[in-house]
Amino acid sequence: MATDSNRFQAIIGHCKEYGFIFPSSEIYDGLGAVYDYGQWGAELKKNIKDHWWHSMTRLHENIVGIDAAIFMHPTTWKASGHVDNFSDPMIDNKDSNKRYRVDHLIEAKADELEASGQKEQADILRQQMDELLSTDNFEGLKTLIENNKIACGISGTVNWTDVRQFNLMFSTEFGAVSSETEDNKIYLRPETAQGIFVNFLNVQKTGRMKIPFGIAQIGKAFRNEIVARQFIFRMREFEQMEMQFFVRPGTQAQWYEFWKQERLSWHLALGISPDKYRFHDHIKLAHYADAACDIEYDFPIGFKEVEGIHSRTDFDLKQHQEFSKKKLQYFDNDIDEATGKPYGNYIPYVVETSIGLDRTVMLLLSEAYEEQDLSTEEKKDSRVVLKFPPKFAPIKLAVLPLLKKDGLPEIARAIMDDCKPHFKCFYEEKDAIGKRYRRMDALGTPFCVTIDHQAKEDNTVTIRYRDSMQQERISIEQVRQLVQAAL
Ligand code: GAP
Repeated sequence: MATDSNRFQAIIGHCKEYGFIFPSSEIYDGLGAVYDYGQWGAELKKNIKDHWWHSMTRLHENIVGIDAAIFMHPTTWKASGHVDNFSDPMIDNKDSNKRYRVDHLIEAKADELEASGQKEQADILRQQMDELLSTDNFEGLKTLIENNKIACGISGTVNWTDVRQFNLMFSTEFGAVSSETEDNKIYLRPETAQGIFVNFLNVQKTGRMKIPFGIAQIGKAFRNEIVARQFIFRMREFEQMEMQFFVRPGTQAQWYEFWKQERLSWHLALGISPDKYRFHDHIKLAHYADAACDIEYDFPIGFKEVEGIHSRTDFDLKQHQEFSKKKLQYFDNDIDEATGKPYGNYIPYVVETSIGLDRTVMLLLSEAYEEQDLSTEEKKDSRVVLKFPPKFAPIKLAVLPLLKKDGLPEIARAIMDDCKPHFKCFYEEKDAIGKRYRRMDALGTPFCVTIDHQAKEDNTVTIRYRDSMQQERISIEQVRQLVQAAL
């Protein structure tokens, strides 16, 4: 059985072996912190996207979705503050030349102290770090690292450079000019949110949206992460599912609370236990926020951020209005009870919910992955099963004729034809049935139907349930309904 410490590695191995996630361009030895989704990973990811999209844009009548381009006018990133501020304090070890994010280095030390029973010291260290980070005190951070004898994991020394800021945005050239000048330098977006901000008025006007309303988007984002060794948890190319909710100034605190609870409820509705989640309030706020927190999930590598809720004030729209010289205001004709007059023109405030799609994949894999010992007195046996909620499972139904002859494949094919327009099915006639069940367990397929000779006599098949491994006979007509009812 995998213990918590090697569970993460077991999941990574499983993802590769069963076609969920591969290192990018693996035949060239991969590319750091970049991953490709294989045939089943892509299905899983798409199911999560669809679920999020529906819960945002269907269940909330005042939220619409867009799909903005990755490339944006370079001024976008000056206005948003990313050119000047989207950086992390880093420190290099002079002996190994290895670069670390300062907060990660100190956090790792605090985790180490906590694991060795020194919780109080760990808390003090974290508190000191938070204070220094919130005041950008780089000298203080270096002293903290040195005083706590935090050593480089590779050289083992405490021979550190000064702490410096590094921008995390990737840039490339736009157009036919070959040399990279400031004129043709363009950034790969580090968050999808700016595509929403610059389209705020387009959507508001064409959609006749009334405040409060939201704009949702799913898309790729790119960050030149320095410490990127945690599988799909921290990638250089990843996907975000973001929603900007535009509200009347002064109401942002109440909407911030609303979205904190709403998003936590969304997570709990996945069927996950509340004790796997916690909120983490930010002490050091991003340059655009007046309040922010993370929803953290208890991954096999510990509690880590899966989603951020940010009260972004009117910062972004104000900045874009200033840099573009185009008005980004909303006319609110609702009556302000205090004055008896309409609220009038203003730049809306924004509460953002931003969840990492890849981290949600990781979350569902962490919840689903189970190694089970099924040994009896007679024989040793085990299985690895992915207990995905059926809605997210890459394959919903496996259709398995017991034999490749006697008319059984024909019956199986008819079941496939009935079901495949409605949900993802998988047909397999090779190998012993036990082996086929195990493969489907490893992919997380909630239902298998086996077609044997009795099907020819009474039109029934055996349905096998992934989690309980129970089997029962049902009529062929019931198969589709039964699966659909679980989705
Ligand atoms: N628009 C706000 C924003 O981008 P963030 O907290 O930097 O906020 C939001 O990112 C979410 O995106 C995170 O909660 C995380 O799930 C995901 N995310 C951020 N960086 C990531 C990375 N390098 N790899 C995978 N997911 C990442």
